[in-house]
Amino acid sequence: MDLPQAPQPIQEDMAKLQTLLHDSLAPHLPAGKDGMRILNLACGRCDEAETLIKVGSDLTQGGAVEMVGADIRIREIRQARETHGHLPAEFLIEDATKIDQHKTLGDDFNMVFLRHQNFWHGQELWKKIFDQGIAKLRPDGMLVITSYFDVEHRLALRALEALGMEVVSNKRNKASRALNDAPGKSVDRWVAVLRQRRA
Ligand SMILES: C[S@@+](CC[C@H](N)C(=O)[O-])C[C@H]1O[C@@H](n2cnc3c(N)ncnc32)[C@H](O)[C@@H]1O
Repeated sequence: MDLPQAPQPIQEDMAKLQTLLHDSLAPHLPAGKDGMRILNLACGRCDEAETLIKVGSDLTQGGAVEMVGADIRIREIRQARETHGHLPAEFLIEDATKIDQHKTLGDDFNMVFLRHQNFWHGQELWKKIFDQGIAKLRPDGMLVITSYFDVEHRLALRALEALGMEVVSNKRNKASRALNDAPGKSVDRWVAVLRQRRA
């Protein structure tokens, strides 16, 4: 059965995100065929599911990749389950500020991903989500955020640094698609990779 294709602009967004993620992560994620666990917090309908799994597969040279997506919005998670049922991914309806209460999730993720984090609209809430995401990482794992606009991205990075993370890559997506009626905002405008600061 042919799967429905995402609209053209989303396909183009994904092609750009794939390149950015691959280039940003390749120097930092330990190479190997051990596979990769990805936790995608506040994933919404998770347009990027296939892209993340492809990047994980490339970086592990064909290792097994699994993704867990979580969002508090029921409708979006149902949509993600329908759209991405063919992928090695599961989608949870969860409050990401309490993801530690999900006992079977584990804390051995190679990557914790937050696309278009929303720090500007709730700094204390997003600090909690970041903190919970960091706690789910393996010691050598990477946390990745993308942002719609410059100030929010800077503030989110500052908050993550205060939580013990260090930025290892921070790229401005020069080809990012502008959002209609939102000057200065664009899709995956920034992509940053962080790891736990070493003592
Ligand atoms: C700007 S949207 C980004 C959605 C998606 N990652 C994307 O790029 O399209 C922010 C997302 O954060 C989710 N969110 C907000 N608070 C949350 C919480 N406490 N736990 C889980 N998800 C939350 C919202 O439901 C929304 O899907």
